[in-house]
Amino acid sequence: MSNSNQNINFIVRTIRVADCPDLRELWCQIYSNKSSKFKSAPEVAISIDPNGLFVAQDLSTGKLIGSCSGIKVSPNLGFIGGYAVSPEYQGQGIGPVMWKKVMDYLGDINIALFPRDQEMGEKYGKKWNFQIAKHKRLVHMTGKVVLNDDICVKNIDGITVCPITTDLLSGVIDYDSDVCNGIDRRLFIEGVINFPETWNLVAINERREVCGYCIIYSANCDVTIVGPLYADNEQLAELLVTRCLQLLPEDRLQNVKYHCWDINLKSIAIAEKFGLKLTVNRPIMYSKQTIDGKLDKIFTVSSTMYYPF
Ligand SMILES: CC(C)(COP(=O)(O)OP(=O)(O)OC[C@H]1O[C@@H](n2cnc3c(N)ncnc32)[C@H](O)[C@@H]1OP(=O)(O)O)[C@@H](O)C(=O)NCCC(=O)NCCS
Repeated sequence: MSNSNQNINFIVRTIRVADCPDLRELWCQIYSNKSSKFKSAPEVAISIDPNGLFVAQDLSTGKLIGSCSGIKVSPNLGFIGGYAVSPEYQGQGIGPVMWKKVMDYLGDINIALFPRDQEMGEKYGKKWNFQIAKHKRLVHMTGKVVLNDDICVKNIDGITVCPITTDLLSGVIDYDSDVCNGIDRRLFIEGVINFPETWNLVAINERREVCGYCIIYSANCDVTIVGPLYADNEQLAELLVTRCLQLLPEDRLQNVKYHCWDINLKSIAIAEKFGLKLTVNRPIMYSKQTIDGKLDKIFTVSSTMYYPF
């Protein structure tokens, strides 16, 4: 069914694979450097939950004019992200139509999201009963990465760092699931690492057990994002992220974002060693209950689009 708000005749529908390049283009127009989206995000959303990413389309031009995703990341947890309307269409009630579709789709499960700012957070709280988690906020460590050999962990005895090859993938997925409240994120991990312009490494011990992994990916606005960086301790996290950053071409080091929890001071200290600075501090909100995962192993979150970890 189509909607008519003022003079715009539009529909809100689930995304199709053919829409992905247009959605990437739309996000480039809407999102600034502050809120970049990883390039494979539309495809990855479709693979995790084919019914969870909604787009608004102007029926007179056929153009995509907005998006909002409500991904069911597990039977009991949804995540809202990518809520945006093209600037020339904002303020005409299109966003709330998409939002309502997403809320109806997710139903009565626990939902997490990162509000853009305080004002938007208050709206989500007042109208939809989302509550801000009190014990942690997300910080954006950003800037140009300087890889300084003198200050970074170069090796750890008994630890091998290598790319996530097929034989190591299931170990990574199990490790990840243990960090993320038992959620199976195979589709997310595979989707991200198989997309062009991503880099990844895993750390394994002498028994070939995974003790951390790191993915770095390209986003819109020429931003490079580190995430997830999960590890058993800060030395492993530093080793992994240093080695992974060393794989990147120079131009990919110019505008890097590293999203971590403000309570993980060890993680902030690692980012500062690369010259990154704290630029944004955002809350996370939940509709029913806070879900943390293993906070001591989360050095950067995986994405502000689909997961609260
Ligand atoms: C936020 C955004 C998606 C809203 O879409 P929109 O079509 O412009 O929405 P409208 O302004 O027509 O919405 C009407 C009202 O409902 C509010 N509203 C919109 N979505 C809402 C929601 N999910 N919950 C509660 N209130 C909402 C709007 O703030 C506005 O309130 P106001 O009249 O007090 O200003 C759009 O402004 C946008 O793309 N902004 C840039 C990206 C961004 O910041 N996204 C939000 C991330 S948290």
